[in-house]
Amino acid sequence: ITIRRATINDVQAMQNANLHNLPENYQLKYYMYHILSWPQASFVATTTEGPKELDEIETEAELQNIKADPSYISKGEKIVGYVLGKMEDDPEAADKTPHGHVTSLSVMRTYRRQGIAEKLMRQALFALSETFKAEYVSLHVRKSNRAALHLYRDTLKFEVLSIEKSYYQDGEDAYSMKKVLKLDE
Ligand code: ACO
Repeated sequence: ITIRRATINDVQAMQNANLHNLPENYQLKYYMYHILSWPQASFVATTTEGPKELDEIETEAELQNIKADPSYISKGEKIVGYVLGKMEDDPEAADKTPHGHVTSLSVMRTYRRQGIAEKLMRQALFALSETFKAEYVSLHVRKSNRAALHLYRDTLKFEVLSIEKSYYQDGEDAYSMKKVLKLDE
């Protein structure tokens, strides 16, 4: 597994992974907005262990099949996870101190519990702090999302700021979470 910065070429596969893993979905232009505005703040986890390398493929049907895999990016590379990060840029935002926000994080099911989400998050937190001078990072998570809550609260030491009632479209509450970034952590 490789963790690298996300580029415009990855947005389609990121959106596909998001559609696969989460009910909170975004238009492609919102992914592009992230990558174009804060190119250092989003990361993908990729693997080249595919069914086959492209130059080993013999038939057109086989090639079409591989390209039809929604996580396909390019020659032999596919996305197994992503983190979409940004700086808060809402002029209406209550808190004017520069801070980051994690819009979305997910890892494909068969690649979970290997530390990939933690690595993606640490890269994004570091970049938001170093590149954009974020003083803290915020995010929302469903109250019922035990895996993500464990990752944020226990592994990454985010704190719960508040509960936002009916934050999600289906009526579920969100924990609003925050982590203060210190450059030596
Ligand atoms: N139950 C309990 N703890 C878990 C679980 C689980 N199912 N999954 C991961 N953890 C813990 C791990 O034990 C680890 O803790 P540790 O370091 O103390 O052992 C920690 O969380 C990090 O684990 P990773 O292996 O890095 O996490 P993983 O790569 O499996 O991804 C994720 C976690 C992203 C939550 C994954 O389960 C997923 O994609 N879920 C569906 C999408 C989702 O819920 N995304 C988050 C939504 S919130 C948002 O996007 C801002």
